[in-house]
Amino acid sequence: MIENKIILSPSLLSSDFGRLAEELAALEEAGLEWVHWDVMDGRFVPNITFGPPVVKALRKHSKLFFDVHLMIQEPDRYLAEFIDAGADLLCVHAEAVTHLERCVAEIRRLGAQCAVALNPHTPLCMLEHLLPELDMVLIMSVNPGFGGQSFLPFTKDKIRRLAQMIQESGSNARIQVDGGVSPENIKELADLGATIFVSGSAFFGHPPYAERLATFMTAASIA
Ligand code: DX5
Ligand code: ZN
Repeated sequence: MIENKIILSPSLLSSDFGRLAEELAALEEAGLEWVHWDVMDGRFVPNITFGPPVVKALRKHSKLFFDVHLMIQEPDRYLAEFIDAGADLLCVHAEAVTHLERCVAEIRRLGAQCAVALNPHTPLCMLEHLLPELDMVLIMSVNPGFGGQSFLPFTKDKIRRLAQMIQESGSNARIQVDGGVSPENIKELADLGATIFVSGSAFFGHPPYAERLATFMTAASIA
């Protein structure tokens, strides 16, 4: 049975990097359960953000579920470090890994939840044989690397077809959407089968956080 509770995972990429501990505390206080870490290496994507030492330092300040999106080449080299640092879920990009099954198996062996992300142009068939091993699939709805980009409409069809593939495969994987998500489109994306939503600019740009969470949740659940 696939868990269908709607989860909002705010992306720290749009938070105040000079006050990360306070931002995490404010998210928890506002009632958020997840937080999304956009790890960038300057190679898979142009930007560089944070690595395991930063995740580790902030783990002490937060009980939030750490949803760690690795936008890095050869993530296999860093799985143990991120999990030791406190990642609850590791998401690797199919485009960045040569031996994806081995990478997925290793994340599971290390005891974290496991997800694979697909760039907007990457076909769903990449995951055909892996779905039963995954806790989550991340559909990128912008090209990764930057916050504040516009949602790419063609990815809606990917979400719909992925939901069907998951059902047919008997997998319990949940669908996460990342990029350009807002209260304006969350309902449509939820209706297509996504349940976990990342939001950077449309969340952090609109404090207070408790009210903004309520706006997303209300929008997602309108009949
Ligand atoms: C993009 C990142 C996203 C980004 C989303 O590379 O993976 O998580 O922060 O930002 P918004 O919600 O502003 O599109
Ligand atoms: Zn992300």
